[in-house]
Parts: sequence; structure tokens; C-alpha cells
Amino acid sequence: MTSPGLILRELVNRPENWDFSGARQLYAGVDLGTYKAITIIIDETGRPRAARMRRAEVVRSGMIVDYAGAQNIAREMINEMRAASPLPIEQGATSYPPQTENANINATRYILEGNGLEVLNVLDEPAAANQVLKLANGAIVDVGGGTTGIAVIQDGRIVFTDDEATGGVHLSLVVAGNHKISYEEAEQLKTDPSKSREIVPIVRPVIEKIASIVDDCLKKFDNLTEVCLVGGTCELEGFEEIVQKTLGLRAFRPAYPQFITPLGIALSCLDAT
Ligand SMILES: Nc1ncnc2c1ncn2[C@@H]1O[C@H](COP(=O)(O)OP(=O)(O)OP(=O)(O)O)[C@@H](O)[C@H]1O
Ligand SMILES: [Mg+2]
Repeated sequence: MTSPGLILRELVNRPENWDFSGARQLYAGVDLGTYKAITIIIDETGRPRAARMRRAEVVRSGMIVDYAGAQNIAREMINEMRAASPLPIEQGATSYPPQTENANINATRYILEGNGLEVLNVLDEPAAANQVLKLANGAIVDVGGGTTGIAVIQDGRIVFTDDEATGGVHLSLVVAGNHKISYEEAEQLKTDPSKSREIVPIVRPVIEKIASIVDDCLKKFDNLTEVCLVGGTCELEGFEEIVQKTLGLRAFRPAYPQFITPLGIALSCLDAT
């Protein structure tokens, strides 16, 4: 079976691959992150049909700081896919980082409603990731741009969540300092897979620091054996080996981990129908 991450890589920002044929119902999953905004359209069987992603600076530390900007980006993404789709796109879901529930749920909900989407679900990010991963027991660590979400799952239920203000931004800052280049240039260097041999030794201490923050949360759970790594920062080659060493737990990284949480947001629509 083709991995969900791989399917999404083919769809994200590639309208020529969007395919709505045979779909009976469409749902939108909208993820507004600190680094990027992404909207994924799935059908009634959960198959991804289209996806649009944009760099965005509308969220800081998991909180929406530019409401109008977030609304506009969501509108552009959804309308572009609506224009390509023979079926209406009228229902969707969105998410928020753990621990920011009260402040964020309503803001994200209004952004969808303001774009003509009936909100079927607003769930926290680890719960969204587990829609795809389906862990019964283990931990999910979502290392994004500005935040790292941590969740522990026991018997299929999330029993612990936390959100820490660390992520890919700290890796880019260290690359910028080390190479004496701008943040944006560092960002480009870091996300170029052909440069990972050069980059990983420079950012290794930052990854170890992120892993030790994760370890502080996870060490109170003694029967954990497995950690699943999602989020854009985990795209870095060799990321899971470094985390595995620090945590002393098996770390598993699905293909294209940046797409797992946003896909789970879209899939959560199916639970709500
Ligand atoms: N190929 C890559 N190699 C290394 N890092 C990458 C790669 N692709 C993306 N990233 C990094 O992943 C981070 C973004 O991750 P993600 O897309 O999960 O963030 P987000 O969901 O917008 O943020 P958050 O979850 O913190 O709100 C950025 O720091 C980016 O530089
Ligand atoms: Mg995220």
C-alpha cells in the first residue's frame, strides 16, 4: 500500500494531480501551523484528492496572531480547490496544539465558518496524527516549526499531551549562526535534502535538546516502547536515530511526516458524519 505521506507529496500544490473522479462527498482538513498552512481534501472513503500548502506567518507558538491573514490564506487555498472540483466542498475540520484549547478553538472554527465550511470537528494535533497512525500504545511527537507536541496513548486513548515552544525554528537559527547567513538562507539550506550530511552535525545538539525535552515528559510512563515522529522537522535525514538514542525508545518516522497531522485533521471529518 502506498504510504499516505507519499500520496500527499504527489498532491500538495500539484493541481495537475488533483483527481475528484468518482468522489461522492468531499471534506477539508485545515491546518494552520507556525510555519505553514495546509488544506487537504479527502473523499468519503478517506482518500486524499487534492491539497494546497503555503508558507504562512499567521500563528506563533501555536496561537493565531494574524486572524485576517489566516482567514485569507485559508480562503485562497479552499477556493482554489473548490474551483477545480466538480463537487462542492462544504464541510471540514481543523485542529489546535495541545494546551491551547480555550484560546484557539473558537478562532480556528470561525476561520473555517468564515470560508463557508461547516465545522464537523476541532481536535488537538496529536489526536489528528493518531487518526492516521492508529497507535494503540505509544507516544506521538510532532516537531513542527515553532512547537513540539507530545502525546502518550494507552489502549487507544490519549492519556497525556503537552506542547513545548521548540521546533525547526531553533535548528534554522543555529544553521544561520554557524554559516553566518540569514535565517531565510539557513531555512533553505536546512530543507534541502541533498545538504543533510552537512546540516545534521550542526543541528545535532538542538535535536538532542528537543529530544531531552520530550524525554522529560515521557519518562514518567514506564511501559512505553515506541515513539512515532511526525511534523516537518522530522523530515531531516537521520532525525529519528538521534531521538532514539536520547530517549532509549524505538523511534519510527513515517514517510513525509509533515503531512501526517494535516491528513488526520481531514480524516476526523469521517468520524463526525
Ligand atoms: N525537508 C525538510 N528538512 C528539514 N526540515 C524541514 C523539511 N521540511 C520542513 N522542515 C521544517 O519543518 C518545520 C515545519 O514543520 P511543520 O510543517 O510540521 O510545521 P507547522 O505545523 O506549520 O508548525 P507547528 O506545528 O509548530 O505549528 C520548519 O521548521 C521547516 O523548516
Ligand atoms: Mg503542526
